[in-house]
Amino acid sequence: MKKVITYGSFDLFHEGHYRLLQRAKALGDYLIVGVTTEHYDESRGKMNVVDSLMDRIENVRKTGFADEIIIEDHVGQKVEDIMKYGVDIFTVGSDWTGVFDYLKDYCQVVYLERTKDISSTMLRAKKYNIIRLGIIGTGRIASRMIPEVKYVSGINTDAVYNPHIESARRFAEQFELNKYMDDLEEFYAEIDAVYIASPHQTHYEYIKSAVQHRKHVLCEKPMVLKKEQAKEVFRMAEENRVVLMEAVKTAYCPGFNQLLSIVRSGAIGSVRDVEACFTKLENPLSRELTDKSYGGSFTELGSYTILPVLKILGKDFKELEFKSHWAANGLDIYTKAYFTYENALATSKNGLGVKSEGQLIISGTRGYIIVEAPWWKTTSFEVRYEDRSQNEKYFSKFLKEGLRYEIGDFVSGINGFGDKHFKLTKGESITMAGIMEKFMETRHAE
Ligand code: CTP
Repeated sequence: MKKVITYGSFDLFHEGHYRLLQRAKALGDYLIVGVTTEHYDESRGKMNVVDSLMDRIENVRKTGFADEIIIEDHVGQKVEDIMKYGVDIFTVGSDWTGVFDYLKDYCQVVYLERTKDISSTMLRAKKYNIIRLGIIGTGRIASRMIPEVKYVSGINTDAVYNPHIESARRFAEQFELNKYMDDLEEFYAEIDAVYIASPHQTHYEYIKSAVQHRKHVLCEKPMVLKKEQAKEVFRMAEENRVVLMEAVKTAYCPGFNQLLSIVRSGAIGSVRDVEACFTKLENPLSRELTDKSYGGSFTELGSYTILPVLKILGKDFKELEFKSHWAANGLDIYTKAYFTYENALATSKNGLGVKSEGQLIISGTRGYIIVEAPWWKTTSFEVRYEDRSQNEKYFSKFLKEGLRYEIGDFVSGINGFGDKHFKLTKGESITMAGIMEKFMETRHAE
C-alpha cells in the first residue's frame, strides 16, 4: 500500500484545496492529511486564520479524500510523521517548490501544480475588506509597529498623523506611507482604524475623537491614567460599535498565553504569589525620566508588570500599596507595587533608574513557574517542583518585536470574530487604569 501525506491550514476551504487533496490521493492508496493548529500557524507568523481547527478538519473530511487526518502542531513534525506512518510520498502545492526537498532523505517528494487565482489569503481579503490603519504619533514604538503590521493579513498601514506636519512627513517618507496629515478630520477620512502611539497624556482625547469618528482603536499602554476615563472610552467604543484594545503586547503573545493556560490547569496548585519585574535603564535626559507630569518607572513599565498579576489573581485585590525611590525631579526611578489578595500576594517591580533581573515567578501550593528575563517576551518558561525530576520546560515563539500578535487580535476583533477579547479584557484594562490613577496620587503626594 502506497501512503501519501500532505499538510495545510485549509482555511476557508476552497477549490485549490479540493484539487490538491484529490491529486494527492491519486498519487497512492492511502492519504494522510495534516491540519495545522492555530498555535502552530501563529508561531510561524500566519495570523488571522478564520476557521476553527474543528471546522478546517471537517472540511477536509467532507472531501472524502483523506483516509486519516492528523494535527500538525510543531516544527519538525513532518519528519516524525513520515517515519511514524511509514509514508512513501510527501506532497504539497507548487508554491512550496524546493522548500521540502530535505524530506527526500525519508520519502519521495512531489510538488503538485497550484490552482491558479485562489487562496485563503485572497478569500480573507474578499470576505473582510483590508483594514486601513492610521498611526497617531511618530515615536519609537510607532516605527516598530509598521514592519510588524506587514506580517498580519487583512490590514495595511495607510496614513500617519502628527500635529507637527514635518514629523509626519519624515515618518511617512521613512516608511513609504502615501499619506501624512496634521489635520485629524482629513486623517480619519482615509482610515478605518487607528493605532495611538502618542505620549500617555494625549491618549484619552485621541481615543475619544477616533471612536466618535467610528474608527477602531488600538492604543498604547497605559491607555489612560484614570479609571473613570477608561470606563468612559470603553462605553463610547461600545456605543459606536468599534473595537477598543489596549496594546499591552505581552497579553497577546503565544508564550504568555500558554503559561496562563498551564497555571489555570492547576499544574502548580493554587497560586499564592506572583512576582513580576521589568527594569530598563534609561538615559536620565530621556522623556521617560524628565517628563514631570507623566514620566517615571511605573507609568512607563507598570502595565507590563501588573498584567500577570491581574491575569492570574484577578481584579479583586484587597489592598494595594506603592513604594518608590524618587529622583530629585519627583519622578520614580524605581517602584514596587504590593498587592494583597484574599489568598495570595503579588509584587510588581519597575525600574528606569535601577536594574534588576527581569523575571516572572508564579508560586503555587504544588510548585512554581519561572519565566526568565525578558519574561514580557515569553519564549520559554519552566514549571518546577520539589521533586526536580518532575520539572518541565516549555518553549514558544516570540517573533521580532512581538507586536504582530496584538495586531492579529485587533484585526480579528474588527472582523467580528474573537471579539470577546479574553486576552486582555475591558475589565482588566479598566482595573489597570485604576491602578495607574492610584499610583499617580501617591506620586503627587510626594
Ligand atoms: N493549494 C493549492 N492551490 C491553491 C491554494 C493552495 O494547491 N490555489 C495547496 C497548497 O499548496 C497546500 C495546500 O493547498 O499544499 C494547503 O494550503 P494552505 O496554505 O492551507 O492554503 P492557501 O490558500 O495557500 O493559504 P494561505 O493563502 O493562507 O497561504
